[in-house]
Amino acid sequence: MAEEARKRERFISPLVGRWVKDYPIIVGGRGAVLIDIDGKEYIDAFGPHSATSVGHGHPEVIKAIKDQADRLGFMTVDFATLPQLELAELLAGIAPGDLRRCYFLNGGAEAVESALLIARKASGKREVIALYGAFHGRTYGARSLLGWSKPYKMGMSGLLGQGGVLHTPGYYCYRCSLGLEYPNCGLQCAKMIDEVITYASVGDVGAFIAEPIQGTAGNIPAPDGYFKEVKKILDANGILFIDDEVITGFGKTGEMFAADLYSVKPDIMTLAKGISGGLPLSCTICTEKVAEHLQAFDYFTTWGGNPVACAQSIAAIKVIQKERLVENAEKVGSYFLKRLKEISGSHRLIGDVRGKGLLIGVELVKDQETKEPAVEESLRLRVEGLKRGVILPAGLGWRKNTIRLSPPLCITIEQVDRVVEAIDEGLKEIEE
Ligand SMILES: Cc1ncc(COP(=O)(O)O)c(C=O)c1O
Repeated sequence: MAEEARKRERFISPLVGRWVKDYPIIVGGRGAVLIDIDGKEYIDAFGPHSATSVGHGHPEVIKAIKDQADRLGFMTVDFATLPQLELAELLAGIAPGDLRRCYFLNGGAEAVESALLIARKASGKREVIALYGAFHGRTYGARSLLGWSKPYKMGMSGLLGQGGVLHTPGYYCYRCSLGLEYPNCGLQCAKMIDEVITYASVGDVGAFIAEPIQGTAGNIPAPDGYFKEVKKILDANGILFIDDEVITGFGKTGEMFAADLYSVKPDIMTLAKGISGGLPLSCTICTEKVAEHLQAFDYFTTWGGNPVACAQSIAAIKVIQKERLVENAEKVGSYFLKRLKEISGSHRLIGDVRGKGLLIGVELVKDQETKEPAVEESLRLRVEGLKRGVILPAGLGWRKNTIRLSPPLCITIEQVDRVVEAIDEGLKEIEE
């Protein structure tokens, strides 16, 4: 370990591994468990940034990767490959509404960039509406959609930032921008989109982009009815809906896609992370009607849609279906939420517990009235988690005070009990 720790200090960017000093060096994983270089096991309540769907090291997924690597490891999108064709058909079959045309890429931000281009081409319009609190990636266009200012957007004006992106209040019920309370609010936040079109736009809004559950902001689910209300406004104004399911896709919310959870039909959807659960892969999928507007040169990628990554994705989706992991996410996720709400009463630091399926946010505050974010306490909880054999994604969310739980879909009730125990005991220690 000493030698590896030396390499970590010497060669790895200090910007990564901000978990804790001497963060673990991970060498293996099975299901919802990760193993470090000293053989210590941790329950993975993080699912590395929600990217793991079926869990670590699933034998069927590993076999699919190996078999495909033996056959064909690389081809550009100039030619179709068998894994790409099979995956495209599979995605079109499970995607909500009429989504059908697949553009394979490498990562989430790239899928968002592609969605922005597709929306502009299809609508012929330049403005995009995004939400306060939004996160859609770190490339230039995606970053312009960020719904949080300091320090992430500082000095980043340009491209879409030149008036092309209009921000509107999100659906953050715990800290409502409009000072209202759900459900008496009448979903005023959704109605604000109409106001933005009327008052703030230059009459050129082509698309609205949103995460159905804001992940980076702190796993904040949209309240029921929100997207139905939004869609009414979009349809009335001929605006395309880009559904960013980079985090929420592939079962995390207890439905295959969160659009199903909210009964809404997107025109364009972005997929990454859980699409493969490991190898770099993403997809922007849209309706035929939208795709008709694209021309040659609007899409090309050298690495995107790599056959081995596509084979991993097919295997992962089949495992999700065969092992009924979406149902597991719903069942175990509901139990997880219930247990967290139960312990919240005995912790002065817990301000809010919210979530859908296995995407859960626990927000820590110093004071229940003022809701001042408990940042230090939240960061300390990471250490308490590691001590107890749990990777607890605490200290996250825009205010750095949220535990962003997003374990693999295969997590069990017993493992959830251990995660809740670690949060409960860790918080007791911190609150003393
Ligand atoms: C909703 C959403 N969109 C896009 C992205 C960007 O994905 P990537 O990190 O693969 O570029 C993320 C990353 O966390 C995300 O949460």
